[in-house]
Amino acid sequence: MAHVTEQNLTDVVLERWQEIPDPRLRQIMQSAIKHLHAFVREVEPTGAEWFKTIDWLTRTGKMCTEKRQEFILASDVLGVSTLVDAINHRVPTGATPTTVEGPFHVADAPERGNGENMTEGAPGEPLFITGTVRGLDGKPLAGAVLDVWQTDGEGLYEAQRDVTGPWMRGVYRTGPDGKYVIQTVAPIGYTIPMDGTVGELMNRTKISHMRPAHVHFEVKARGYNGVVTHLFRNGDPYIETDVVYGVKKELIVDFERKPAGRAPTGESVATPFNVVRYDFVLLEAQAEKLRGAA
Ligand SMILES: [Fe+2]
Repeated sequence: MAHVTEQNLTDVVLERWQEIPDPRLRQIMQSAIKHLHAFVREVEPTGAEWFKTIDWLTRTGKMCTEKRQEFILASDVLGVSTLVDAINHRVPTGATPTTVEGPFHVADAPERGNGENMTEGAPGEPLFITGTVRGLDGKPLAGAVLDVWQTDGEGLYEAQRDVTGPWMRGVYRTGPDGKYVIQTVAPIGYTIPMDGTVGELMNRTKISHMRPAHVHFEVKARGYNGVVTHLFRNGDPYIETDVVYGVKKELIVDFERKPAGRAPTGESVATPFNVVRYDFVLLEAQAEKLRGAA
């Protein structure tokens, strides 16, 4: 065995960690060691600083429960979640881009008829989101599924409200013409949870801990690749500084504010309301396979 020096240590460790039969795990571990050693060599942490790092990671792990995942939040605020998502969902121009799912999706949302209200009486200004789900070739997709979830008009998700039933979420399906209409209330921007180890770190920075107002979607259609994405409110004060780096320009939409009157569902609304028009464009599953092989 080579005698270890500060200079040769990285090479010695890398050689030892070659002994991994699984080639992908070997690649991952070798790269992790290389970058971690380079980080330590650059930063030259004191023993106390390194212990503080271990302590932060330990406390982050202890905060994680079935309802809260502080490590995912850490990955989010460092831009890693968005980077992993971007690498795994490269789409051609014109297809709806993905963005991070976030921690607030709840499975088995109730089925809603086209135009049905998903607010269950939640506070906020009425919002109608309408458009078509179509393929990249423009073909409208009948029976496409839109799983929708968002905050209410006070910036809170179902998990943050003392409610028993479904709150601010629903599953919609497009009609034969590929069209959908969602009736909801306008979401507002909100802060990420700041009472944990991530908040502790963020509080030592001048970085905004806010997310701009958005509605979450998972859109699926038979024979097409599903997308998990958001629509963001144009003009939101946090649109340029989303703390989890989720905003892509194609996902910014105008909330067109209308006076009381006829809504896209055909019904009459007694208060001012907002309309968002957006077409989701999905990539054919086969086209994706061919693209990957090219
Ligand atoms: Fe969200």
